[in-house]
Amino acid sequence: MSSTAQIGVTGLAVMGSNLARNFARNGFTVAVHNRTAAKTRALVAEHGDEGTFVAAESAKEFVDALERPRRLIVMVKAGEPTDAVIDEFAPLLEPGDVIIDGGNAHFEDTRRRERQLRERGIHFVGVGISGGEEGALLGPSIMPGGSAESYASLGPLLEKIAAKAADGTPCTSHIGPDGAGHFVKMVHNGIEYADMQLIAEAYHLLRDVAGYSPARIAETFRAWNRGRLDSYLIEITAEVLAHTDAATGRPFVDVVADAAEQKGTGRWTVQIALDLGVPVSGIAEAVFARSVSGHAALRAASAELAGPRATPLSGAEADAFAAQVEQALYASKIVSYTQGFHQIRAGSEQYEWGVDPGAVAALWRGGCIIRAAFLDRIKAAYDARPDLPSLLSDAGFAGEIAAAQDDWRAVLVAAVRQGIPVPAFAASLAYYDALRAERLPAALTQGQRDFFGAHTYRRTDREGSFHTLWSGDRSEVSTD
Ligand code: 6PG
Repeated sequence: MSSTAQIGVTGLAVMGSNLARNFARNGFTVAVHNRTAAKTRALVAEHGDEGTFVAAESAKEFVDALERPRRLIVMVKAGEPTDAVIDEFAPLLEPGDVIIDGGNAHFEDTRRRERQLRERGIHFVGVGISGGEEGALLGPSIMPGGSAESYASLGPLLEKIAAKAADGTPCTSHIGPDGAGHFVKMVHNGIEYADMQLIAEAYHLLRDVAGYSPARIAETFRAWNRGRLDSYLIEITAEVLAHTDAATGRPFVDVVADAAEQKGTGRWTVQIALDLGVPVSGIAEAVFARSVSGHAALRAASAELAGPRATPLSGAEADAFAAQVEQALYASKIVSYTQGFHQIRAGSEQYEWGVDPGAVAALWRGGCIIRAAFLDRIKAAYDARPDLPSLLSDAGFAGEIAAAQDDWRAVLVAAVRQGIPVPAFAASLAYYDALRAERLPAALTQGQRDFFGAHTYRRTDREGSFHTLWSGDRSEVSTD
C-alpha cells in the first residue's frame, strides 16, 4: 500500500466517521480503520464519493497508508480503550509521528500519555473537539494541546476542517502543551453544564411563576436569541420546547423523565476546580442539580415536604417577570464564564501552559456547544487586557451586571418566595456579591479555626501570623 493519506482516523463510531468524512470533504486523503473492519467498509461504501478514503483492515495497513510524519487520530472511548489503541499503534510508529486523541479524555491521562510517548520520540496530542456529531462533520470547535512542533504539522489540517467564526477565523488554535487542550475542553463542558442549568432554571420560572406554556416559552427563547443571549443552547432550547410528542400530543418536555444524566466531564471540572482552589460555584451547582434530579428515591420520599406552591402571574405582570428572568439569565451567564475562565487561568499557571484566554474565547465562537455571540466580547476584553484578573473586572461586563442586578435579585426573591429551586442563579449572585463585599465573614471562620485548632490567623493591621490563647488569658502570640 502506498503511503498517501495525510491523516488517519481509527475508531469509526459516529464521531470518528464524521470527522473522517469532514477531512475527506475538505480534500484530504484519509486512512480509515476500525477494530471491526465491517464498519470501515460501511463508511467507504456509504460515503466513499465524498472524497478519498483509504480503507485499512489492520493496524499495520493503517499505519503504512499514512504519509510521514504520520498523523493518526484516535476516536475511541476515553479511558482504557484509548490506552489499548495507543499500545497497539505506538510500536508501529516512528519518531516524529503524531498520535492525536480526539476523545473527551481527562487531561491528567493526556499528560501521562504525552510524557510516555515523548520518551519514544512520538508526539501525543490531546485534542478537545466540541460540536457533537453534526459539528464533527460540518465543522467543530477544536482545542489541540501537545507540542508546538506537532501543531506545526497538524494545525493546517485542523484549521481547514474546523468551524469558522463569523469573521472567517477557524475555530481552532494551539492551546498549549501536553494536556492543555483537554483541560480547556473540560472547562468548556463545565460551562456547558452551567449554561444548560441556567436555561433550565429560567424555563422553570417562566413556566411556574410567569405561567407560560412550553410553546410560549419557546417563543420567548426565540426572542431572546435575537438579542444578547444569542447562542446555540438558547436556539436549541426553543426547538425542544416547541416540540410536541407524537404519541400523546403533549409538549415533549412534559413526557420526558425529569432526571438528567451525565457522562462526567462537568464533574471533572468541579473536581479539578476544588484541587486548584477555584470557586466555580455556578458550574458545581449545575452538576449537583443533575445529581439531585436523578435521586428518584430521595425525591419520592420527600414529596410531602412543606413549602409554597407557585401561583402563576398573568398578563403584563407575567411579561414583566419574563423580562426580569432574561436579565437574571444574562447576568448569571456572565458569572459562569467568569468562573470558567478563572479555572483556565489557574490551570494554565499550575501546569505552565501559557494559555491565551482571548484565543480560547475566539475558538469557542463557532462549532462548539457553548458558542454564543457574547464570546466576541469576551475575546475583545482579553485581547485588550490579557492579564484581566476576572471577566467581572472588564468595565463592559461589570456595567451590564450593574444594570441587570435589580432584576436578578427580584427573580431570586420570587423564586425563593414561590419555592422554585434556582441553585445556579443563586450561586451566581452569591459569587457576585462575595466579590463585591468589602468584608466577608471569613474573619469569623478564621477565629473559629484558631479557637479549636490553633490554626492561626493574619491581622488587617500588622504583618505575620497570630494565635490567641483561647483557653488561657486570651492574649495574642505571634507565631512567626
Ligand atoms: C461537546 C459536548 C460533548 C459532551 C456531551 C455529553 O462539546 O460536543 O460537550 O463533548 O460530552 O454533550 O455530555 P454529558 O453526557 O456529560 O452531558
